[in-house]
Amino acid sequence: MKQDLSTALQDKRRAAPSLSTPLGGRAARSAVQEALLNRAAKPVLFVLCLLPLVWLVYAAATNQLGANPAEALIRRLGDWTLRGLWLTLAITPLREAAGLAALARFRRMLGVFTFAYASLHLLAYGWLDMGLDFGEIAVDIAKRPFILMGFTAWLLMVPLAATSFNKAIKALGAKRWQVLHKAVYAVSVIALLHFIWMRAGKHNFAEPAVYGAILTVLLGWRLWKRVSTKRGRLG
Ligand code: HEM
Repeated sequence: MKQDLSTALQDKRRAAPSLSTPLGGRAARSAVQEALLNRAAKPVLFVLCLLPLVWLVYAAATNQLGANPAEALIRRLGDWTLRGLWLTLAITPLREAAGLAALARFRRMLGVFTFAYASLHLLAYGWLDMGLDFGEIAVDIAKRPFILMGFTAWLLMVPLAATSFNKAIKALGAKRWQVLHKAVYAVSVIALLHFIWMRAGKHNFAEPAVYGAILTVLLGWRLWKRVSTKRGRLG
């Protein structure tokens, strides 16, 4: 993350002269870059990430979650986990496509919040659906493939969340850390399968199709980058 920050700062320095350029696009990008590097940007993102949770707690406390509040809570937490995951995966393509290096500053916070939402989703299921009966939970995970998918995705997120702080990055070394964090691609595919499987029971594939299309773009972009970089090296 320190690396990300220094890249962002270098980019800020490089971007500074373009403020005086007559090209509106460049000036606008510099302005956005400046805003992203602002000290308030991270606290603002922190509050934004908390908002869905605050709303859910408020809605639960004021009986606004419909006829089955437990189910609604579990599902809404699942939705926000998926959104957080997709947003985290969108940072790198957005950063490169828009030339906004400073976006990298926000990836770790988004990732950690995504894990927090996934853990709350698991907790809500374990508590509200299963009454914290760990034996029953284990049986349910083994019995229902879509739950097994969700649980696998969450398990794979644990080492990523546990190594998301600077000391762990240093201890692992940048290369090994990067290899480990590639597991986020497996997490996203398994999480999507979890969603598709769950909706398959209701023959409702509209939302999973949208999430699937976005994930195809996000992972397809990475594959295309990889292939074109390899070709560039060979050619
Ligand atoms: C990366 C991790 C996970 C993601 C992204 C995720 C995402 C989702 C999504 C999007 C939904 C559907 C919400 C809707 O219908 O609008 C859902 C439902 C659900 N998930 Fe997960 N989930 C994850 C992990 C887990 C885990 C660990 C468990 C439990 C072991 C779990 C159990 C459930 C259950 C019980 C439902 C609701 C099923 C129903 O209402 O019929 N999920 N999840």
